[in-house]
Order: sequence, then C-alpha cells, then structure tokens
Amino acid sequence: KRLVPLFLGISLLLSACGREDLSALRPQGPVAEGQFGLIKLAISIMVGVMIVVFGIAAYVLIRFRRKPGQNEVPKQVEGSFKLEVLWTAIPLVLVLILAVPTVQKVFAFGEDYSKDKNAVKVNVTSHLFWWEFSYPDYGVTTAQDLIIPTGKKIALQLRTADVLHSFWVPSLAGKTDTNTDGTVNKAWLEASKEGVYLGKCAELCGPSHAFMEFKVKAVSDESFKKWIEAMKAPAVLPEDPAVAEVFKSQCLTCHAVGDQGGPAAPNLTGIGSRESVASILLNEGASGKPGDRKPVKDNLVEWLEDPQAVKPGNKMPAPKDLGLTDDQIEAIAQYLADYKLSY
Ligand code: CUA
Repeated sequence: KRLVPLFLGISLLLSACGREDLSALRPQGPVAEGQFGLIKLAISIMVGVMIVVFGIAAYVLIRFRRKPGQNEVPKQVEGSFKLEVLWTAIPLVLVLILAVPTVQKVFAFGEDYSKDKNAVKVNVTSHLFWWEFSYPDYGVTTAQDLIIPTGKKIALQLRTADVLHSFWVPSLAGKTDTNTDGTVNKAWLEASKEGVYLGKCAELCGPSHAFMEFKVKAVSDESFKKWIEAMKAPAVLPEDPAVAEVFKSQCLTCHAVGDQGGPAAPNLTGIGSRESVASILLNEGASGKPGDRKPVKDNLVEWLEDPQAVKPGNKMPAPKDLGLTDDQIEAIAQYLADYKLSY
C-alpha cells in the first residue's frame, strides 16, 4: 500500500510527457527518431534482463523453499567456473548491443552539415534567459522562435554569451550544451512536417532557468523564403513620433528591429507574429493549456510593467525605472504586438 502514492507520483510526473510538442517519445524528425530508437533499445534490454532475473528468482524461491520436516542443511556450492563465465559474458554482450548503435548515433547527431549546400546554417547563442538565432547565409538574426524549412537539415553551431546552457527540442533533437570555454558545439536537426515544437534550456543556469524556453517553427520552403525576406525589410517604427522617440532612445539601445538598434538584447523584428513572448507561462492562460493563450499585447504589457516578476534575474531594466509612463508602456506594447511579418 505504501507503494501506491509512489506509483501515482511517478505517473503524474510522466503524464507531463504527453505534450506532443514537448515529447522525446513522439519524435517529429530523424534525429529525435534515432534517439527514440535508442531509448526503445535500452528499455527492451532492461525489461528483458528484469524478466529473466525476476523469473529465475521466483522459480528458485518456490522450487527450493524449505518444506515441512526438512531440517538438514542443503548442499553448499562454492564457486562455479561455468556460471562465472556465463554471467560475465551475457552482460558484456548486452552492453555491446547497446553501446555500438549508441556511439554510432552520438557521432551521427553531432555531424557538421555546415558545408552541405542543402542545409540551412544557424548560429545558436544562449543568453540568460533567452535564445538568439542567426542565419549567417542570409544576414538575419532573430530570438526565441527558430524558423526553419521542413525536410531540410538545419546545421547548428552552438555557443553561449554567458553561462552554461543546453539546447533541447525533445521532439526534434538535443540536448547539446553551449559551453563556456569558447568551444563551439555542432549539432543538426530536421523537422519532417510543419508545426511548432517546444524547446527548453536543459542545464540549470539561474533563477529563470525554467522559463528559458524557445520554439522551433517548421514551415514550408516557400514560407521560409518569405520570412527571410520579411526579416530583411526595413524596420517598422512606431507611427506616433513621440512613441517612436521613446522606443528609439530607450529600447533600441539594446534591442534591434530590422536594420536599427543593437545586438545586446533579443531582436524584436516581427515580434507580433512570434509564438510566445517573454516566457511560456505568460502565453498560457490560467488553465495552463497550450492554445489557451493571452493576446501577445497583454503578455508584453505584463512583461514591460515588471520584467523581474516574469523572469527573475533577467537583464532587462524595468521600463518604469527608465522613466516610462504606463501610457508609453501600453503604446510600445501595442506597437510590438502589431509588428507582424507575413510569411
Ligand atoms: Cu539556460 Cu537553463
């Protein structure tokens, strides 16, 4: 009976794996499929070992149990060459069956496709607590939403701007660390079909580690090209000159839109069409169900009113501390929410 709460707890934990866009058990591309294959292989071997060991243990317990009236000490066995060889050889074979494909896959998943003409190159840079994606072949940089074409290899080069983070999109690929010693990790992923796949930082990195999420949005090749064009278009600034002035002097010192602004903070080009803003929690309504999303503008207002309340420890100064009024915050949130890209 004591085990019942334990089992309930475990099933509750595992039930969180049910999200299709965040499950390594529902792979949506070749890398994740390979990883799922390894998971299945390891689990099959483990289950097989368990069945055999428990089976033998149960058989021995029943077959050789002490019967009524049986008082003599049974025959004592000390050492058996045959048995020793057997129970050394079997695990060795099992470990080899597991190790050979695992090592093969580890190298295959770390393959560098950046020289492949059909691959799309993306430089991933992790920051406390957001992700930067730049496309060196197109001169485009974005944040939080990694837009990719389906059916193509995306050649990733991963770095960090500060501490150790780890890039993980359970249903597509990962985990791959972004190292602090300057080394660049290489990985690749591919989405078989269009969709939005949730990504997470998989290395404890600070107070907002849990909110350090991102999305991979796989679109058709045609849409991808349109998105690149839209990203390269001249920046759209707030129509109201007073709002534009505040935006330029306060926001664009760190953020960028189009060809204006700086690289220190997430690029805001087309932020109105992103899947989520600031963090996943913001974008899920009270029910916590994906899809039950608040409008982007409401998220932005919540974020701008008090960034530390949303992502503790993040580097964004509170706009109010910079002297922005509620009306200005509202106007900037509206402008950003309306800044959409068509693709
Ligand atoms: Cu970044 Cu955890």
